[in-house]
Amino acid sequence: MDLMEYQAKELFAKHNVSVTLGVVITDPAEAAAAAESLGGRVVVKAQVKTGGRGKAGGVKLATDPQDAVVKAGEILGMDIKGHTVRRVLIAPAADIADEYYFSFLVDRAERDYLCIASVEGGVEIEITAVEKPEAVAKVSIDPLVGVDAAKAAEIVAATGFPAEVADQAMEAIQRLWDVFIREDATLVEVNPLVKLGDGSLEALDGKVTLDGNADFRQPDHAAFELRDEVDPLELAAKEKGLNYVKLDGEVGIIGNGAGLVMSTLDVVAYAGEAHGGVKPANFLDIGGGASAQVMADGLHIILGDPQVKAVFVNVFGGITACDAVADGIVHALAMLGDDADKPLVVRLDGNNVEAGHRILVEANHPLVTIVDTMDGAAEKAAELANA
Ligand SMILES: Nc1ncnc2c1ncn2[C@@H]1O[C@H](COP(=O)(O)OP(=O)(O)OP(=O)(O)O)[C@@H](O)[C@H]1O
Ligand SMILES: [Mg+2]
Repeated sequence: MDLMEYQAKELFAKHNVSVTLGVVITDPAEAAAAAESLGGRVVVKAQVKTGGRGKAGGVKLATDPQDAVVKAGEILGMDIKGHTVRRVLIAPAADIADEYYFSFLVDRAERDYLCIASVEGGVEIEITAVEKPEAVAKVSIDPLVGVDAAKAAEIVAATGFPAEVADQAMEAIQRLWDVFIREDATLVEVNPLVKLGDGSLEALDGKVTLDGNADFRQPDHAAFELRDEVDPLELAAKEKGLNYVKLDGEVGIIGNGAGLVMSTLDVVAYAGEAHGGVKPANFLDIGGGASAQVMADGLHIILGDPQVKAVFVNVFGGITACDAVADGIVHALAMLGDDADKPLVVRLDGNNVEAGHRILVEANHPLVTIVDTMDGAAEKAAELANA
């Protein structure tokens, strides 16, 4: 789970990393009181789970409480890279002397952890990393040792933190490591980590990704889930126990088993090249038990996505036989009634495939097309989605 900046800062504060929490609001009218309580001169910051907010106009300085109301009004409701801004953070305007970049992440290729840091932090860090890679330090971390004082000193030296902040950086690095390890994060990023006018270091922004596999031992993390930030279809799928991921295309995909669904995505994307460039609209794995109810739930979710123009049901009957799946499709369409309004291409193979076909042929539903091969079905689904 990715956290918002204000949530990341709450975790930083818990582990004694120097931050200023500020106030989160959802209505511009609340900005005046928030700014007043923070001394008047504030920054208004869009809270969305994507980077580059500043460059997109989502971080603005307000000179007084009235100006904060205006700026909050401009930023709330804004779209940043497909994310609607529903919350803004009001934080005191910091007196910035210098901006650094700092992060810990999992380095899967090397099977260890990695620290990336630079004294040239701020909103241009992506450009710096490409054009001036020597300004970005990379220090690998042995997972069995972690970041002790010696490692922190190595990071400080490799990054080239100026002498006057070296001791504070040593401390901040070890506390950020606490956040990374004790909170089961896979990413902790601070950009910028700033030196203030008075010489102290502060984390002015924060980006944290928590490892969902560790949720069982991190009961506090559930509170970070923001229901209004989750795609409503993904939420509905989660509640039904279905594995659903929204993608950008037009062909809804239902399959059983992640392997089959993933290869279905590939064949649909390939077939789509000849049909106006249509692409998969989602990933929906109904798993082993394709009962009528599961099929109805799956179809209901996929048909609820207005971007879907056609659906491809690709099932390989194993433990679940094809006739049960076909029964499921027929009953699901009956249950959905007029809610089912997009063409369905069905490809069945494996256990009891003949019986499955017979059921679909007898039902003779006007929306259903049966195709025997995976490639042929992908072709048909792409064609229908582009019609
Ligand atoms: N509290 C603050 N006071 C003064 N300036 C600030 C404050 N917070 C952010 N800024 C300025 O705005 C810039 C962008 O802010 P921030 O890093 O939070 O947004 P961002 O767009 O997420 O950046 P990126 O995605 O590149 O990490 C900072 O580099 C800093 O110069
Ligand atoms: Mg930032």
